[in-house]
Amino acid sequence: MRALLLGADGMLGQALQRVNPGHTLLPLTRRVLDLRELSGLDALLATLNPELVIFCAAVSDVDRCATDPEAWAVNVEAPAAFAARLPTWFVSSNYIFSGPGPHTPDTTPSPVNAYGAQKAEAERRVLAAGGHVVRTGWLYGPGGRNFPSSLPRRLGVEPVRALRGWPVQPTYVEDLAAALWRLPTGVSHLIGEEECDWFTFATEVAERLGAPPPEPADALPWGARPQDARLSPATLPGWRDGVGRWLRGRRG
Ligand SMILES: NC(=O)c1ccc[n+]([C@@H]2O[C@H](COP(=O)([O-])OP(=O)(O)OC[C@H]3O[C@@H](n4cnc5c(N)ncnc54)[C@H](OP(=O)(O)O)[C@@H]3O)[C@@H](O)[C@H]2O)c1
Repeated sequence: MRALLLGADGMLGQALQRVNPGHTLLPLTRRVLDLRELSGLDALLATLNPELVIFCAAVSDVDRCATDPEAWAVNVEAPAAFAARLPTWFVSSNYIFSGPGPHTPDTTPSPVNAYGAQKAEAERRVLAAGGHVVRTGWLYGPGGRNFPSSLPRRLGVEPVRALRGWPVQPTYVEDLAAALWRLPTGVSHLIGEEECDWFTFATEVAERLGAPPPEPADALPWGARPQDARLSPATLPGWRDGVGRWLRGRRG
């Protein structure tokens, strides 16, 4: 299949390219198509002639989504525009929920912040256009800019504070990419099967790297976050297995 990949430079976009099972990939980055400006979209699609779209571009800085107009354009309007034109797989987030979890594909969204509200609205528009939604959470792996992905380059270099007591389901980005390439239809939950908190995860990474441990934190200086965004079913490999594969595969 000729698959158009939006967000090709991001953590998941890079992983989708590494584990591509044989599709003809058309990877698009911001340099080729800025998703805030889609007036040339039909001409671009006529040139590239894709058969499906994997939409994993996002303004993924949760707090920025409340204030930056780019977030609504990229997180809501752009996936809806692609879904209106082509079979589209939209990558969404467990942040469409608040709590208590775990949340099933049928749970009604209840976002507590702008990022979650944007993802929920994008899901609604993508599904209405006949597209598909894949929800995930707490990704880690090569090329990531978020907390878990940053641990190998930060531990031992700067103090790392890691939240205690907030349940997450860490998801190795390559496991998500492989499952996403199976092109699940409707609404799917693709997330790691093993829960922990940030502190436990960061401590394990430090131990495996022989680096100084993180410092526990009971709160971090953020805007609103879901109290419990766990998803069910959770079927991707657990994080202890994933962290092993991730760290073994690191270069340098
Ligand atoms: N990371 C997680 O823990 C997590 C959890 C749940 C759901 N998700 C979802 O999973 C998907 C992939 O996440 P990720 O961690 O791979 O995100 P990421 O690393 O932040 O990548 C997002 C990509 O979107 C691109 N993008 C942003 N604004 C753009 C614009 N105006 N035009 C074109 N491209 C633009 C970014 O390009 P620039 O670098 O140029 O800005 C970046 O390459 C996203 O939909 C995210 O919401 C992620």
